[in-house]
Amino acid sequence: MPNNRPAQFVAVLDFGAQYGQLIARRVRDLHVYSEIFPCDVSAAELAAAGPSAIILSGGPASVYAEDAPDMDAAIFNMGLPIFGFCYGQQIMAVKLGGAVGHTDKGEYGPAHITRAGASRIFGETPAEQTVWMSHRDAVSEVPAGFAVTSTTETCPVASMEDASRNLYATQFHPEVRHTEYGRDLLSHFLFDICGLEPTWTMDNIVEDKVAQIREQVGDKKVILALSGGVDSSVVAALVHRAIGDQLTCVFVNHGMLRKGEPEMVEEVFREQFHVPLIHVHAEDRYAQLLAGVTEPEEKRRRIGTQFWKEFFAVAQDLDGIEYLAQGTIYPDIIESGARKTGGKASTIKSHHNLIPFPEGVHFDLIEPLDHFFKDEVRELGIALGLPDKLVWRQPFPGPGLAIRIIGEVTPEKLAILKEADAVVREELDAYNACLFEETGERNSEHSCWQYFAVLPDIRSVGVMGDERTYRRPVIVRAVESSDAMTADWAKLPYEVIGKISSRIVDEVDGVNRVVYDVTPKPPATIEWE
Ligand code: XMP
Repeated sequence: MPNNRPAQFVAVLDFGAQYGQLIARRVRDLHVYSEIFPCDVSAAELAAAGPSAIILSGGPASVYAEDAPDMDAAIFNMGLPIFGFCYGQQIMAVKLGGAVGHTDKGEYGPAHITRAGASRIFGETPAEQTVWMSHRDAVSEVPAGFAVTSTTETCPVASMEDASRNLYATQFHPEVRHTEYGRDLLSHFLFDICGLEPTWTMDNIVEDKVAQIREQVGDKKVILALSGGVDSSVVAALVHRAIGDQLTCVFVNHGMLRKGEPEMVEEVFREQFHVPLIHVHAEDRYAQLLAGVTEPEEKRRRIGTQFWKEFFAVAQDLDGIEYLAQGTIYPDIIESGARKTGGKASTIKSHHNLIPFPEGVHFDLIEPLDHFFKDEVRELGIALGLPDKLVWRQPFPGPGLAIRIIGEVTPEKLAILKEADAVVREELDAYNACLFEETGERNSEHSCWQYFAVLPDIRSVGVMGDERTYRRPVIVRAVESSDAMTADWAKLPYEVIGKISSRIVDEVDGVNRVVYDVTPKPPATIEWE
């Protein structure tokens, strides 16, 4: 996207890891494209990118600290509207001749502001408002030309603006949902002050992306590794929409996918979308490769290495492939830290380095999702006509069920785990669907983010009729989370756990016990290996 940005976009200068992400998402929620830049981007670099407006994010540092994140003061002379939040307000004040000091006590959490006079940012919103604060330092002296537009009991400059230069700032966080009128403030900035149009909608995005892909690819051929996951599926649907049969998808079936998954990929892509699809049946080769392997990292390594071998074996057999499409998404780029070391070009290079091209083989990359957040990728999938069951799939690790079978992966264990996992998914898909119906939200407070069965490498004693059994226990793992960085075990109703348990012991041969994992992350991880 960076070289193909929409004509109007907002640059968010990020003063602290991850602060910019939420802001960019809020701007995009209002249908204006937004992209995150490192805070030390120069005015010249920014001018070359050509944003329509700038937002300065919050950040955890103190502006006067020795290695506090800094910015190029020339950005204030670019003539663009600028909106600063929290640290963004403080650095605006300091750069333009105001001052920041320590307040007697910090403000964390909800606070009440009282407006002071007219303000273009506040518009017609009420005189008293609840906002979200998170700061110790605060502006003590506004720069010349600025007016204070709101205060709290402890913060004399809760917001300030110089409307003549189109500079606005708040000590609080308008991007946080707890700020009652945050969305209105942002919307006043984007539409009333900057005069932007809310044209960044999924339908327009699909159209733009399709045009870009067509232009980039021309009449060349593209290959894509389709895993059945959300990202690669959306790329497949998008690239196919753009160039039709010039795209070939390769689906490497390593045999450790969940029950019904290979069939779903076939049904959606081959039968519904008519995408040229090569289904590589590598199940036996993987089974041999994993025989006797018990170390989780060794399993991952072997599965990953074999994947590319299988993929390139097919790719090299096809004539005239010039491009490899990948489902890289924006958080992959942001989190790789690549943007800090020179932006886009170095990012692509680092991805390239990850792909083990065989000697003498090289494809250029197409990464059409590299500036989309996960929920936007899902929206795009829906706009492209992918079915809900695929778009709303829970995350599933690349090495598949191999890391949910503790110890050696054997055909017997795989068969048990596939069946038990299918029961867990069926019951918890239904549970999530009920919550969705009640709340209208996909990932509402109690819904499960990831849910699956794990097969430990032990046996347990049971009794069936008059006989003692010596069979396998199955562990059920279900977690609530929003990003997999932290997670809590799902507080499922007893009836739901009970039903999963009785169905597994009744329906899955070789299992005589079911246990539920009640550990959050941290200290545990979501997966067992
Ligand atoms: P953990 O277990 O570290 O998992 O809490 C966090 C998220 O990452 C997924 N995961 C993996 N995904 N390859 C993947 O593609 C892997 O080896 C892998 N290990 C964990 C996990 O399912 C969860 O969503």
